[in-house]
Amino acid sequence: MHSHSGPAISRRALLIGGTVLATTTSLARVARAAPAEPNVIELTAAPGRAPIVGAPYPPTDVWCYGNRIPGPEIRVRQGERVRVVVRNQLPEDTTVHWHGIRLPNSMDGVPGLTQPPIKPGESFTYEFTPPDAGTFWYHPHADSLRQLGRGMAGAFIVEEPTAVSADRDLVWMLSDWRLTSEAQIAAGFGNAMEAAMSGRVGNTVTLNGAITDEVPVRAGERVRLRLVNSSLARIMSLRFEGHRPAIVAIDGQPCDPHEPERGRVVLGPAMRIDLMIDMQGEPGRRYRVIDDFYEGLSYWLTQLVYEDKPPLRAHHLEPSPSLPRNPLPEPDLAAAERRELRLQGGMMGGGGMMGMGGMQGMSHGASWAINGTSMTGDGHADMPPLLTLQLGRSYVLIIRNQTAWWHPMHLHGHSFRVMTRNGTAAPHRQWADTVLVPPKESVEVAFVADNPGDWMMHCHVTDHQVSGMMTVLRVV
Ligand code: C2O
Ligand code: CU
Repeated sequence: MHSHSGPAISRRALLIGGTVLATTTSLARVARAAPAEPNVIELTAAPGRAPIVGAPYPPTDVWCYGNRIPGPEIRVRQGERVRVVVRNQLPEDTTVHWHGIRLPNSMDGVPGLTQPPIKPGESFTYEFTPPDAGTFWYHPHADSLRQLGRGMAGAFIVEEPTAVSADRDLVWMLSDWRLTSEAQIAAGFGNAMEAAMSGRVGNTVTLNGAITDEVPVRAGERVRLRLVNSSLARIMSLRFEGHRPAIVAIDGQPCDPHEPERGRVVLGPAMRIDLMIDMQGEPGRRYRVIDDFYEGLSYWLTQLVYEDKPPLRAHHLEPSPSLPRNPLPEPDLAAAERRELRLQGGMMGGGGMMGMGGMQGMSHGASWAINGTSMTGDGHADMPPLLTLQLGRSYVLIIRNQTAWWHPMHLHGHSFRVMTRNGTAAPHRQWADTVLVPPKESVEVAFVADNPGDWMMHCHVTDHQVSGMMTVLRVV
């Protein structure tokens, strides 16, 4: 089905002979200030060490937020103001991007475009009010390959004002690492050959910052499981043995609850999916969660391990109800203007480059382009907008993937309706901020350009982004 250039993955990386117990890291909750005050959060970006593989392997030298992998979970309520003071103790510039949150442009965290980068030893205060409840995340938008690839990422959860009925709310931050046999982060970020193919797919996948063999569950409980793929490049396709999860939200935005196609929950880099899972397995048994996206490279991520206790409730629950919808503006499809984004470049199967047809912006190091122009890096000043959109107007973007590779395309500052895939209507009323476009396929998305500013649109396979698959949409 798919091919990629990364090394073969064995679940314990190349590292592990067999029996490593999970170090279960619980997510720290960020304390809340009084409701009238903004939530004030301090986030320090700095080098650190983290036991991501576990004994007998040494801790891994990482870069992280709050001295932990993943960074501290930020959890606020919809409509509550948030102030985050970010201190940079890295040896290089950074910024923080609040992925998927519809916030003012000056808080979006793109260096050069929306703010000056935060220099080493300096700090920057982000302040915004998340309008939407849902599962979001934060990550750097400077030297993204290294900073994200060394571990800088955290979950940002916005709770619904009224509780959603589930027995538990779990967050799984899923991250892919390329580790050496000493459990250290392998060198070689920004390899040009890889950048023109799948990007830096690693050899070790962690769940909340560690290789996790077991997740304890109780028979009969309903769990809301928030999945975040914070990988640089790895696409995941998760199958829950013995279970029938329902997808209730995509990229934080509620959809009509539905079972995943072929039982696979597909997550490209930066995507989030909220599941409701009824734990209908047998007490005392264990069920694997398997990722089989890359053909021949399937591995099990973790196991749901049932406590040896009678079910929490006697009867099956009714199917999950829809989550309350967020205040998203509905695009006016009759009046919408249509714009095309052609994704170009990359290697073909044979190793040659795909034609980019009249590509002007080809700077050295560029492997990819959008509509013939390559913007490289993580964001900088003077990025001319590819499209200028009129504030308040509805737009349909036709994203045509003319390449041989998958691209999770992310738009900042907005969520969009996913309308069609290859001309066929997309079901379940889905919204997204990152849409995975398979090779040679096309996707139409629609949105109201209601947020003024210069907004990034790029592939979230980080190697693709930094080597040309990035552009700017201006809303004025
Ligand atoms: Cu999570 Cu510009 O991206
Ligand atoms: Cu891409």
